[in-house]
Amino acid sequence: MREMADVVRNESLKAGLPSSLFAEELYPGPSVQTDAEVEQHIRDTTWGHHACCTAKIGKQEDPMAVLDSNFRVYGVRNLRVVDASVFPKIPGMFITVPILVTSQKASAAIDAQALDACRDSPYCMSSDDDSGLSRQNIGAIVGGILAFIGLALSLLYALSDKFRNKKKDAEVSARAQAQFEADRARQRAATKDRITLLGKEKEGAIDSDTLAINVTPAEARARVMFAELDRDNDGYIERHTLRAALSAASGIPLDEVVSDDVNKLLEDEPLAVDGKVSLQEFLRIRDRHVSITVPDSRANGSSMLFTPTDVYFENITLDYVDPKTQESNRVLHNLTGYIAPGTMTALLGSSGAGKSTMLDVLSMRKNTGNVEGRVLINGHERNSSFYKMSSYVPQEDLFLPTVTVREVVMYYATLRMPAYATPAARWRRCEMLLLESGLLEYVDSKVGGPLPGGITVRGLSGGQKRRLSMVCGLIANPAILFLDEVTSGLDALSALMVMEMIRRLATQGLTIIATIHQPRTSIWRMFDKVMLLANGRLMYMGDASRATEWFNSLGYPTDPQANPADFLLDLTSISFHKDPALFGNKTMRKLEHVEDAADAFAKSEHMALLRRQQKFVSYSRGVDQTLELMTRFGKDKDAKMQSSLWRRVIESSRKMAGNAEHQSMAPWGTQFGVLLKRAITNYVRNPGNVIARFVLVAFTGFMTGAAFFGLSEHWDALNSRLGALYFLCVIYVLLPFTSLSLFIYDRQFYSRESAARLYTPSAYYLANSLVELTFNAANVAISASVAYWMIDLGLSDNILGAERNANGFWVFLRIMTLLHIVGNQMVQLCGLMMPNQDMAFALGAGFVILCQIFSGFLVIPSNFNEVTEWLQYTSFLKYAYAGVVLNEFEGYDANSDPSFSIIEEAHFSNPTTVADNQYVLLGFFFVFHIMAFLCLKYLHKERR
Ligand SMILES: Nc1ncnc2c1ncn2[C@@H]1O[C@H](COP(=O)(O)OP(=O)(O)OP(=O)(O)O)[C@@H](O)[C@H]1O
Ligand SMILES: [Mg+2]
Repeated sequence: MREMADVVRNESLKAGLPSSLFAEELYPGPSVQTDAEVEQHIRDTTWGHHACCTAKIGKQEDPMAVLDSNFRVYGVRNLRVVDASVFPKIPGMFITVPILVTSQKASAAIDAQALDACRDSPYCMSSDDDSGLSRQNIGAIVGGILAFIGLALSLLYALSDKFRNKKKDAEVSARAQAQFEADRARQRAATKDRITLLGKEKEGAIDSDTLAINVTPAEARARVMFAELDRDNDGYIERHTLRAALSAASGIPLDEVVSDDVNKLLEDEPLAVDGKVSLQEFLRIRDRHVSITVPDSRANGSSMLFTPTDVYFENITLDYVDPKTQESNRVLHNLTGYIAPGTMTALLGSSGAGKSTMLDVLSMRKNTGNVEGRVLINGHERNSSFYKMSSYVPQEDLFLPTVTVREVVMYYATLRMPAYATPAARWRRCEMLLLESGLLEYVDSKVGGPLPGGITVRGLSGGQKRRLSMVCGLIANPAILFLDEVTSGLDALSALMVMEMIRRLATQGLTIIATIHQPRTSIWRMFDKVMLLANGRLMYMGDASRATEWFNSLGYPTDPQANPADFLLDLTSISFHKDPALFGNKTMRKLEHVEDAADAFAKSEHMALLRRQQKFVSYSRGVDQTLELMTRFGKDKDAKMQSSLWRRVIESSRKMAGNAEHQSMAPWGTQFGVLLKRAITNYVRNPGNVIARFVLVAFTGFMTGAAFFGLSEHWDALNSRLGALYFLCVIYVLLPFTSLSLFIYDRQFYSRESAARLYTPSAYYLANSLVELTFNAANVAISASVAYWMIDLGLSDNILGAERNANGFWVFLRIMTLLHIVGNQMVQLCGLMMPNQDMAFALGAGFVILCQIFSGFLVIPSNFNEVTEWLQYTSFLKYAYAGVVLNEFEGYDANSDPSFSIIEEAHFSNPTTVADNQYVLLGFFFVFHIMAFLCLKYLHKERR
């Protein structure tokens, strides 16, 4: 400047510029003349820019470097330069941002020096203590160790569970096996005695115990029926009725046992007139019943003695009404028929014929469409107890892949068997069924199948799973078993093995109705009866062996080489063009043909027989009437013997009849216990679940801790501190999404099992919620503590120290736990409200976005738009965030530190205390739970 003044005042004139060019000197002014005066003036009044890069930061050796990396001017004490001049190069066009960043760095450097200076002061709150381990370091280590221990424990548990179960199963198995053998021996002896009893040879040797084991209510009932028949038919009964009664009395199917002996008996019988025999004759024949051969399975004691039960259905029609057009579509047309006890009936028909629909109607599991007509079970209308006496095995097998065969059957045994059944009895029943189904050797294998995470567990084959499904259906000792598409999806051998098992069950008195597709000849032969449907009409019902004969009589020729089932299906399918070269000229081609055949069958002798059989059944009045009968028998000449025999029969019948009741639901406590155990097993054994939820949660806590590691307590880190709190909140809301697929996966079990009346919604819901809650709380405990100590949260505790009556850490943990379980519940609720996983995910994600927008972190609540402001009250994230922020900054002095006003303004006018925010979260927790339970109970009904 001095030179500038000199140039203007002197050099320009010397250079010949006219003095008229210079009007007046304004600056530094005429009073400043000498060099010394000019210099003094400069010192007093002037200022100037540091042009970019004129005071660059660099190494001391660099001759152009002016500043060290802490912005200090080399060689000068207490002088720093912070502006654009510090850059070694011009940092681009828009220089403001680099300058801001540089300023921040400079302020941190200055701050750090100030902290150094105040370190010894008693007011210094810095935790940047280099001596020894700092708090956040300890936090990180403890947190890390905790996370590691948690992880290791969970994995260890998952692994050890396998070994423990193996050992336990082996012990129990040995015990059960011993009991089973003993029981079998006892039954064997008892069965022998019983055969003798029927022969009246050694009746004195029978004690009531053995009788109780072996006499079924059917026996009592069959006798009652005869008494009734006698009354209504002048003492005469029809021959086939007699055969059926003898069959029912012995619990052995007509064709297998009774046919040989009794047919012969009846044929030899001189007193039978017109195919009728008198009651006296019947009693005589019954006493000669001794010659009945007892099937192996029955003699060796492994039989199950099902309660013989029959089904009569009359004029069943079913219409579906289209909700839009209100048009009605008839799917079943006036079906009438009869299914005898202990028989195996194939429900046959081409695709769309109405097989599954009919099976659902018969099994009382149809809850869509308008059904008319009636179904009688042992002559009585069905009521809700029908669910208890029948089992329905759906087409798809549904098991948790991670559980063992034994666990599956025990699960059903506990839920299905009577409360007073001892554990030993349960084991025995399971063993017996597993033996029957050929699964005993796989008892410790996992069921197997794909897990929701995509991992596939190795386990049983398709056929074995099918048999296991049947075992589960049979545990409750049902009287009727419904099977849908029993062999579909199985290879020939597996199908045959499944069918053999079913055949054995029918032999033991179980009534079986099975829809089946294209049975091979060997399977076809196993069925006693066939019920053929075509376009919802009954084409034939009766002996499987006589089906082709019936259609021949209608004029449809058969190929003797063909499988009869193929013939029946080919004949009655009309939905496609039938080439005469393949199907012949005489086959059904139009709906009229089908209708004509159905009409012919309705008028046939077969139908008359079905109705007669039903009439016989209608006389059945159950066990109680046996008492009346007993009085009658009391007048008999063998009164003494008969009455004592009948008393025992009745006693045992009562016990057995009681057994039918046993199939009611287990007590609520048992249901809850079993479901709790299953939920824990399912949780622990599913590696996807363990990884997704335990490891991930621990990992995210650790990573958040690392990202915000050891935050400074000064206002410059205020935003980071708020950010860390917000981020943690978001994590605990987002993490539950990892298990959405598990909720959805589990839902199908609930639908299936609750439809089978296995348990109540409340037991299922509470058991699962309790497990979820525990695991979630454990997850948060690990992950949030790791993050808390690593970040060095708990400012408020530092500020207030002993003055504070709450411990910041515990409050923080409580809020985070509440948030996580509320978040989890929200995801569950979405899973329950929506029909599929994608929609549940969309709903959940939408809600979480809303929660985030109105969390109070991204937009300060006072800035919320008036129209949408109310939405903040739906954001449970807001309450958790407000809670942790208030907890963190309590006692932060707003007067001494203006930054606190930001927090005050932003967080949160309503509610204003940490405790109140927690109460609101608790409110969310209960509301979500109630909603989820209602959805589970009312939305998740199986629709058929
Ligand atoms: N909910 C429904 N609403 C309207 N029509 C239905 C409904 N369910 C089934 N149907 C119709 O009822 C008829 C019989 O169906 P069903 O499932 O009983 O046949 P199916 O004999 O079991 O066949 P498949 O062998 O293919 O299993 C079909 O024409 C089907 O389209
Ligand atoms: Mg079907």
